[in-house]
Amino acid sequence: MTQTEFESLGSTLLVHVELPQIQSQEDLKELQLLAESGGGAVVCSISCKRENPDPSTFIGSGKVTEVADSVRAYEVDTVIFNNKLTPAQERNLEKAFGVRVMDRVALILTIFAQRARTYEGKLQVELAQLQYEQARLVRGWTHLERQKGGFGLRGGPGETQIELDRRALRERISAIKKDLEVVASRREQNRSKRKKNSVPVVSFVGYTNAGKSTLFNRLTNSDVYAANQLFATLDPTLRTVSLPVIGKAVFADTVGFIRHLPHDLVAAFRGTLEETAQADLLLHIVDCSDEHKESNIEAVNAVLEQVGAQDVKTLIVYNKADLISDSPVEIIRDDTGKAVRVYVSALSGFGVENLLSAVSELLSDNLCEFTVKIGSKHGKLRSLLYASKAVANESYDEQGNCLLELKIKAVDAAIIDSKTDGDLSSTCTLLKKPWIVSNEFDFSLVD
Ligand code: GTP
Repeated sequence: MTQTEFESLGSTLLVHVELPQIQSQEDLKELQLLAESGGGAVVCSISCKRENPDPSTFIGSGKVTEVADSVRAYEVDTVIFNNKLTPAQERNLEKAFGVRVMDRVALILTIFAQRARTYEGKLQVELAQLQYEQARLVRGWTHLERQKGGFGLRGGPGETQIELDRRALRERISAIKKDLEVVASRREQNRSKRKKNSVPVVSFVGYTNAGKSTLFNRLTNSDVYAANQLFATLDPTLRTVSLPVIGKAVFADTVGFIRHLPHDLVAAFRGTLEETAQADLLLHIVDCSDEHKESNIEAVNAVLEQVGAQDVKTLIVYNKADLISDSPVEIIRDDTGKAVRVYVSALSGFGVENLLSAVSELLSDNLCEFTVKIGSKHGKLRSLLYASKAVANESYDEQGNCLLELKIKAVDAAIIDSKTDGDLSSTCTLLKKPWIVSNEFDFSLVD
């Protein structure tokens, strides 16, 4: 399949086949969004159930006739299957329908091809496309070889053409891989420079359409493309921001993940995705209004595991909180007090302050330094502060008030504050709550 063939989907018919042996079914709604993201206009969709795929047409002759009738009736340009087709099935179906047929993998490759903007992104997509081609050609070759044996032919025109194609593919693939290595080593240099300067990296990951780019834009004032399309963002975008307590940090918006991301794509994007494995913190953005949110989280975790990022510190960010009722307004913590989840709305700005506080806490384990003025009624606070080894110095002012200089982790400060009903924040001599990142902090771009 060439780049031009990938270009326009036109009016599109979707075919969705449920097979009992397949555990996690693809979702027809998601296929529709994918097709629309690829520029197709979905005019009709046909679903059916089968025990097994038909080897030559996947859906069997009865359904082939039904789809062919709809293709004519709706003047369809492209038929998209939600299931994986073999090259032979694709060919047979194209012959039967008289229009282009593609499967979900080819569709995702199409979208990636349309979206890649940077040099590296384009190379990665081309590599994935060629590897997809190569796998199909190998299968096609096997099929022809069998034919050749059957007819007792040697070196027929089919064989020569396929050999040529295979060689051309191999050569282009190895050229792209070399180019990608150069880009990767440049990225590695930048990465080690950042490490040397100990600039923490926060990577945004999430299922496609979760709102990563919208949130990224809100936090970095940038205008990364955000749209109600799948894979609107393809190339990783890095922004340096100035965080309170932490100072400089790099925020990275990455490619959206999807269930059963084609293997070739994960392989081609490995370099980019491995950036996430090197991050100091992952913000796993989830569309909390999506009925499939749990399985979307699993799909993202599966890709993170594939690229070795499963152990990176992660904060779950439930985005689109404006679409659900009763979103918690506080940071959700585990038993040890560590921030694990926040609810935000990238659109309205709800929860952004919590998100920034949690990021700050998690990045540095956020050691805060400030002084509190302790009165006689603050006995519980005093003993909690000593118990958590937060007191760096104790002195008295001219009025005889006890002053405690504290060095305390933000998370501990938050816990002690809540255990003492706000005594810690009310006794601060400087800021109200130094461990909470305020909205007023400068979050503008540094670079
Ligand atoms: P990919 O590029 O596919 O990975 O998508 P993404 O995760 O970057 O999502 P994007 O920021 O492009 O947002 C997808 C859609 O969700 C857009 O239509 C946004 O306007 C919408 N959206 C993002 N955040 C929110 C939110 O907090 N509330 C609501 N209601 N919609 C949101």
